[in-house]
Amino acid sequence: MVILVTGGTGYIGSHTVVELIKNNYDVVIIDNLSNSSKDVVNKIEKITGSKCKFYEADIRDENALDKIFKENKIDAVIHFAGYKAVGESVKKPLDYYDNNVVGTIKLLETMKKYNCKKMVFSSSATVYGNPKVHKFDETIERGKAVNPYGATKIVIEEMLENLYVSDDTFEISILRYFNPVGAHESGIIGENPNGVPNNLMPYIQKVAKGELPELSIFGSDYNTKDGTGVRDYIHVVDLAKGHIKALEKLDNKKVYTYNLGTGKGYSVLDLVKTFEKVNNIKIKYKFVDRRPGDLDCYYADTSKAEKELGWKAEKGIEEMCKDSWNFAKNM
Ligand code: NAD
Ligand code: UD1
Repeated sequence: MVILVTGGTGYIGSHTVVELIKNNYDVVIIDNLSNSSKDVVNKIEKITGSKCKFYEADIRDENALDKIFKENKIDAVIHFAGYKAVGESVKKPLDYYDNNVVGTIKLLETMKKYNCKKMVFSSSATVYGNPKVHKFDETIERGKAVNPYGATKIVIEEMLENLYVSDDTFEISILRYFNPVGAHESGIIGENPNGVPNNLMPYIQKVAKGELPELSIFGSDYNTKDGTGVRDYIHVVDLAKGHIKALEKLDNKKVYTYNLGTGKGYSVLDLVKTFEKVNNIKIKYKFVDRRPGDLDCYYADTSKAEKELGWKAEKGIEEMCKDSWNFAKNM
């Protein structure tokens, strides 16, 4: 089977390409390298010992998509390509709608044209908005977006459901990620954002490397065990494996939606302390005000993915911290 992976040189995409190759899929990547580098293709080859086809192109470029679908008999698409920085999305909402929503429309139009009807889509726990409970299960309705990035995920989820209603030969799985961290055990691929990171683990990595002086912990007065925010951190390799399961499970009975998390909540301090312990490094931190828009505590109910996909995250927080550092220290 030939799988087109959009955004395949990015953080989650590259780890998923490795798992696809390990599972004997043929992979074609399209990425415009707006947030990754071409070198990742060689790194994937180094890990897997196999080649994958790479197109440097934008998913909004219909001619490029046409060329890819003409040159390859694509059976299914795993769609990661998009922008993901929450703060930037507030400043540049039109760029986010254009890249994420318009990009997905162009991709789906081309898929239709070439009768490729299978898609696994990268969504986010952010689509739940701010429900009254901490444990999010898939029966909770999509909430109100708290930022333009979240809005694009909500729009795309709805669009995919509308598309299926109009054409029930589509086979679609929507995966809602919680907080992906960690890196491939080889230390060859991982997350390396440009500039000052917004997310916790990349920030800790930079402090550990001495590139940033200290971590600011946003809020110490949340109603959690130690006052800091609680999230469901999931190892990116576990997450990548979830995509293979979702791909295998695709059928046209309905649009499937799954949470991908571990089901466990850890606080910011849990993550910092574990990182320090397993890597034997001190992370300097200070407490500052809450970050606007942050929720106090949430984690995934993973029972649906477990039951229907036969998938369960296996790696714990210690491995996440160890692998993150194993990658970052060599960067
Ligand atoms: P990433 O930025 O590392 O990867 C995205 C890749 O897509 C990059 O390589 C980028 O160059 C590429 N890209 C962006 N726009 C493109 C376009 N128009 N055409 C072609 N390529 C394009 O991000 P990631 O963390 O790997 O996230 C992948 C997907 O998962 C995104 O859709 C993101 O919204 C979603 N997601 C990520 C997280 C997270 O915390 N990392 C959480 C929930 C959902
Ligand atoms: C992020 C995304 C969200 C997405 C979710 C899961 C942001 C702002 N939000 O959520 O859209 O749904 O991943 O995919 O990117 N923290 C600090 N100091 C820091 C950075 C973070 O204390 O320098 C804290 C935060 O307050 C939070 C936790 O660490 O409690 C995790 O934050 P982060 O990694 O940014 O992810 P989320 O905000 O959970």
